[in-house]
Amino acid sequence: MSSLTASDAYASPATAKVIQPAWVRILHWINAVAMVLMIMSGWQIYNASPLFDFKFTHSITLGGWLGGALLWHFAAMWLLTVNGLIYVVLGFATGRFRKKLLPITPGGVIADTKAALTGKLSHHDLTRYNYVQKLLYAGIIVVGILIVLSGLSIWKPVQLQWLTALFGGYDIARYVHFICMAAIVAFLVVHVALAVLVPKSLRAMIIGR
Ligand code: HEM
Repeated sequence: MSSLTASDAYASPATAKVIQPAWVRILHWINAVAMVLMIMSGWQIYNASPLFDFKFTHSITLGGWLGGALLWHFAAMWLLTVNGLIYVVLGFATGRFRKKLLPITPGGVIADTKAALTGKLSHHDLTRYNYVQKLLYAGIIVVGILIVLSGLSIWKPVQLQWLTALFGGYDIARYVHFICMAAIVAFLVVHVALAVLVPKSLRAMIIGR
């Protein structure tokens, strides 16, 4: 399915349909569900043996207790991993990663950060990511891969001892896993806030709703 540019949408709202291809939208929402399940069950697992001097409030955790949380974590793990693998394979195979996320230049990131901070960032063409978006989206894909690998290394530290060793051992892999979760949660907060804040009228013009 081809993407329309924002200018196409302005020129002919009747034909303006989608920014993202269907497969991206479907995989995105499956990922969102899996991520929320992983985060909430992860917080319950964390509470059984906290790495830091705090616990997560029971009401925002999933599973009820350590055993229940592990069951949720390992069930959602399949959804997340299979969905993620399909996304990464299609991202490379269709050339979407190259087209949408590359190149990322330090100069571009600095210029767009300055523009964003001074309210001058152009939102004219929503089909093109600015450099800050490119960096964040590429970064969160890398974090997603890292959290799966660190998760596997603390799940099967004997069978996958080479992987656990790559992280510097079980204890460090646990910290890596937790820090990746924190990065994903921070990304989610900004991502959702921006999705809510982008003017509905502009979105309606682009996606025809
Ligand atoms: C294939 C993917 C994953 C696997 C195999 C996996 C596996 C595990 C395992 C085995 C634990 C228990 C660690 C322990 O005994 O202390 C754990 C904890 C945890 N997981 Fe995952 N996980 C995966 C993905 C994720 C994702 C996507 C998130 C959140 C975005 C997440 C968040 C957490 C958190 C917050 C904890 C508690 C941290 C701790 O106290 O060690 N995990 N995970």
